[in-house]
Amino acid sequence: MYNKHYSEIPSSWRSYEQIASELHLTDEDIKNKIIVDIGSGGSDFAAQINNRPELASRTLSIDPNFNLGVLSGDNKDLMKDAVAEIKQNQLDAVAGLSEELPIKDECVDLIISNHAIPWHISDNPEKVARSIEEMLRILKPGGEIRLNPIDDEIFTMVKNTVDKYDEVEISRHGELIKIKK
Ligand SMILES: C[S@@+](CC[C@H](N)C(=O)[O-])C[C@H]1O[C@@H](n2cnc3c(N)ncnc32)[C@H](O)[C@@H]1O
Repeated sequence: MYNKHYSEIPSSWRSYEQIASELHLTDEDIKNKIIVDIGSGGSDFAAQINNRPELASRTLSIDPNFNLGVLSGDNKDLMKDAVAEIKQNQLDAVAGLSEELPIKDECVDLIISNHAIPWHISDNPEKVARSIEEMLRILKPGGEIRLNPIDDEIFTMVKNTVDKYDEVEISRHGELIKIKK
């Protein structure tokens, strides 16, 4: 089993606009989708999607730092505010790790991870492989994964896992990876 006692990572997060821009996401990519944001930090991406009912999409934010009980100092205060916002806006969020996603098989249209996975775990190829396997497990056929940023080493690590699957395509766009199931 995978160790749930991760090293605490300082919390900070980007706005919806920054995330959409870094992941090259258009409204068309986001429309009518069940989306999972892994390593979301707060929940700005989910909140902005929720504020646009015409998109008919919903985002589940996943981050180990939603587990307030294990946090300390500034991180705890920041995440307390984030969790209060999640409750107030009735957003979907769960504490969890990319290596063991608390989601059933093949029910997600789009998975995003910005400045989180695999970036934060790139010193551990086993965790990267397991995280990619987990993403592919929860992704519907026809679904897509977008991960940013990556470098040559991370791209190779991710590609080695993706190449074990028939009919899953991986492509690199600068610092962005797109994976299509
Ligand atoms: C720099 S923040 C990025 C937040 C946001 N995605 C953004 O674009 O600003 C990285 C986040 O990744 C989370 N994280 C680190 N390791 C993780 C893992 N194994 N699974 C899921 N999230 C993880 C951290 O808790 C942290 O909130």
